[in-house]
Amino acid sequence: MELILIRKIVAHLSPSMKARLKDSPLAQAVGRRMLAREVVDFREQGRVFSVRMDMTNICNLQCKMCPWPALAKSGKVRREDMPLELFQRIAEQVFPYTRNLQLGCEFEATLHPNLPEMLRIAMDSGVTQSGMITNGTRLTPQLCEAIAQSDLTSVGISIDGPDAESFESIRIGAKFDQVIQRAKRYVETLQRQERPGPRLKINHVLMCSTLDRLDDFARLCIDIGASEIEFLHCAPRTRENAEYAGNRPEAYNAARERTVLLLDAAGVRYDIPDPFDLDDETGRYEVRDVNREICGQCQAPWRLMQINSRGQVFPCSPRTVKPPFGDFRRETFDEIWNNLQYLQLRYELRTGQPSGPCVGCRSFSTGKALEEF
Ligand SMILES: C[S@@+](CC[C@H](N)C(=O)[O-])C[C@H]1O[C@@H](n2cnc3c(N)ncnc32)[C@H](O)[C@@H]1O
Ligand code: SF4
Repeated sequence: MELILIRKIVAHLSPSMKARLKDSPLAQAVGRRMLAREVVDFREQGRVFSVRMDMTNICNLQCKMCPWPALAKSGKVRREDMPLELFQRIAEQVFPYTRNLQLGCEFEATLHPNLPEMLRIAMDSGVTQSGMITNGTRLTPQLCEAIAQSDLTSVGISIDGPDAESFESIRIGAKFDQVIQRAKRYVETLQRQERPGPRLKINHVLMCSTLDRLDDFARLCIDIGASEIEFLHCAPRTRENAEYAGNRPEAYNAARERTVLLLDAAGVRYDIPDPFDLDDETGRYEVRDVNREICGQCQAPWRLMQINSRGQVFPCSPRTVKPPFGDFRRETFDEIWNNLQYLQLRYELRTGQPSGPCVGCRSFSTGKALEEF
């Protein structure tokens, strides 16, 4: 109650007054005292974290559904590869408490010159489940070997079309034949070695323009030798997004049924969104109003860390649009994990008062985002 009252008073202050108040030692001390209940000792929890890390902030492609091309065109991006020493420091502090580690989430990890060394560091950290996603364009024989010999659980290659024409019109800058040949080369590398190595997972963004050939896409993945396929809806899930499959629900349901039959028969694992309820049109689209019940299930500020190539920490992907919660270049995990921003966010979610990007966020409605890989 006291906190709500303070927030109401602060809301009436000017932006400069707010900033001065927030940074004052008194406000920090009062805040920490009031939010003491939200302090979490990560050392007592064991391996519970899901960590998503980008080691670079650029990509070599211009995929039509991805936010990267617009960012690149804005001219605001200066390439920043994570120094190996910083990766090592984060690994030492965070990986002993990490259950799931995902490398290369928003950009293209294979562009980092030290990727093989980073895989070795991750391997030595004992993380039980780990993965990496790549567009596959730079999977050289040497990199295939380094990944195959790593302890990653899986490596994901993104393929968004069943043939050269559709693939190259979506994954702009990539060559279909080259990526398929590289994916097959990875499977052959795995087959040559004695230990199983990271299984090949294909990531596929479901799009209206390719839905009718989803079964051909499944045949392609079977031919490549993929162990698993992860199908994802094309964000944003809005009527304005012409590629979002929710705009062609009957076509999606029919394509899904054909595809699942094929994959079951071939023994390929898959994760595919449920069929659409044809009687519930509004349920297919993103909800942009406050949904307290949903936010109440979010575990991100207790279990998730999103780390960018500068070493800045965010509690989740939607909040990467806001200032970071911490910075491994100057702070330790101890200092970041229970700072005022984390305590405040935990308080808001635990008490059902979401703010900013949490409002309407559905990412963690099922807790599934913490279980994936
Ligand atoms: C942003 S990419 C970064 C990793 C790597 N560059 C790649 O393409 O796999 C991560 C995944 O997000 C997918 N993706 C890109 N834009 C998307 C969108 N609008 N909706 C859903 N998934 C998207 C990509 O296809 C890829 O599987
Ligand atoms: S390869 Fe990945 S990061 Fe690059 S533009 Fe395509 S989806 Fe985005």
